[in-house]
Amino acid sequence: MGREFLGLFDEWADLYDDSVAGADIQYKDVFKNYDTILAEVTEYSFGSILEFGVGTGNLTKKLLESGYQVIGIEPSAAMREKAAAKLPSLSLFEGDFLHFPTPSEPVHTIVSSFAFHHLTDSEKKHAVNEYAKLLQSKGKIVFADTVFETEQHKELAINKAREQGFSDLAEDLQREYYTTIPKMEQIFTTNGFQVTFDQMNDFVWLIVAVKK
Ligand SMILES: C[S@@+](CC[C@H](N)C(=O)[O-])C[C@H]1O[C@@H](n2cnc3c(N)ncnc32)[C@H](O)[C@@H]1O
Repeated sequence: MGREFLGLFDEWADLYDDSVAGADIQYKDVFKNYDTILAEVTEYSFGSILEFGVGTGNLTKKLLESGYQVIGIEPSAAMREKAAAKLPSLSLFEGDFLHFPTPSEPVHTIVSSFAFHHLTDSEKKHAVNEYAKLLQSKGKIVFADTVFETEQHKELAINKAREQGFSDLAEDLQREYYTTIPKMEQIFTTNGFQVTFDQMNDFVWLIVAVKK
């Protein structure tokens, strides 16, 4: 489980960088402030980094340019090809949030952008439990992803997308596993993290969790 949306990403790889730049009107608000969001994830990172769902490598590029060592994990072959072309020196592996080669060196920060919603809430819980075992005290998880303040906020977003005629976005919001901040908070705190949430646009929040 957790890889049920892979076909979409294999198809999207060629046009993905256009979408994040605002070319797809339906996703323009989702990717609003994209560069700033990735820069914030980079800003909160430290030490050796493990990144999940690297896609075409845009967050990875910022992390590498800031001097960090990054191990990238990406399940889509087409996305891996794009990232490898952009960042030939990147250590990039086939894997996903739940199944990945265990790093041989200590990991200080686990990052991901626009991807954690591919897991169900119970898979998210399992993943964070595993990450807690990989990190030492003060180790961090820094995620940027679509989450909603409440289920009602999510319903409002789906209805708004429908009213705007954004059927792809409306279906996506219903099909994938976008969760709520209270649920995410519970997942992190029960696994021994202190967590903060900062809103980056109408959809995306910056989630910074520090292991106690
Ligand atoms: C919307 S893209 C985000 C790419 C990049 N992180 C960014 O910020 O632009 C989502 C990425 O997550 C990957 N993905 C899908 N399911 C995944 C899973 N279960 N575990 C890890 N990555 C997954 C997709 O292949 C895709 O590359």
